[in-house]
Amino acid sequence: MTATIIDGKAVSNQILEELKAEVDLLREKGQQPGLAVILVGDDPASQVYVRNKERACKKLGIFSSKYCLPDTTPEEELIQLIQKLNRDPNIHGILLQLPLPQAIDEKKVLDYISPNKDVDGFHPYNLGRLLAGDPIFLPCTPQGVQELLVRYQIPIEGQNVVIVGRSNIVGKPLAMMLVQKAKAANATVSLCHTRTKNLKEFTSRADILIVACGKARMVTADLVRPGAAVIDVGINRIDGKLVGDVDFEQVSQISSFITPVPGGVGPMTIAMLMKNTIKAAKRFWEGEATSFSF
Ligand code: GUN
Repeated sequence: MTATIIDGKAVSNQILEELKAEVDLLREKGQQPGLAVILVGDDPASQVYVRNKERACKKLGIFSSKYCLPDTTPEEELIQLIQKLNRDPNIHGILLQLPLPQAIDEKKVLDYISPNKDVDGFHPYNLGRLLAGDPIFLPCTPQGVQELLVRYQIPIEGQNVVIVGRSNIVGKPLAMMLVQKAKAANATVSLCHTRTKNLKEFTSRADILIVACGKARMVTADLVRPGAAVIDVGINRIDGKLVGDVDFEQVSQISSFITPVPGGVGPMTIAMLMKNTIKAAKRFWEGEATSFSF
């Protein structure tokens, strides 16, 4: 079997068009969603991501403001910027690009982003809402993965989903989303990681295999059940070339669906960020963004 290649770029462009129509309607009413993007330090990959996020805002007509801070920025200064943006009525979403420089306590700083403006869905309040089955903002990459499965009509309900990688950004929230008693979910989810005994025993039973472990071409064909749908969240640079966590050459020969790297999950993350930003703005205008005092 040769896999259908999932075109994340095309799906993302389609979603961005749908979202642009929504932003156009809002702007006719004099409303414009706004996103603030904060970049601390000069990590080259983060610079590319931030540039792409700004571009997407421009394309859709979302107001965006970018804050580039040096990697020597004191934690307190970053917190003050977040607090200023929390109060800014023209800003509905705040995105703090990760990773942060070593000297800054990531968890502590993320806690300062108002849950109402937390378009990354990383605040413990929003993670808790997801765990409780009543999410507001879903983290962008897991949401992008779910959306790809839906738009390619890959069945999820009752399927064996195996996720390799337990990060707070991808693996853990995605497991929570797909196990939910909800549409495009209801799967039986296994969450594998570096300490999993006999990984193959799990992966070879997967109807849907999602890999987000950060190890280049780690998943080879022998780990995959023929006919499985394989979603590769990894982005690794090898000899200047971008490759995923899945060995695409091998696995595309036996799987039913596969995402390429680049052009698979990556573009979806940005589309979902735009979706969350519009949602955040609407929650403000519709009076749903009630205040928090923690
Ligand atoms: N770094 C890698 N992925 C992400 C993401 O989804 N959001 C943010 N803020 N930083 C990231």
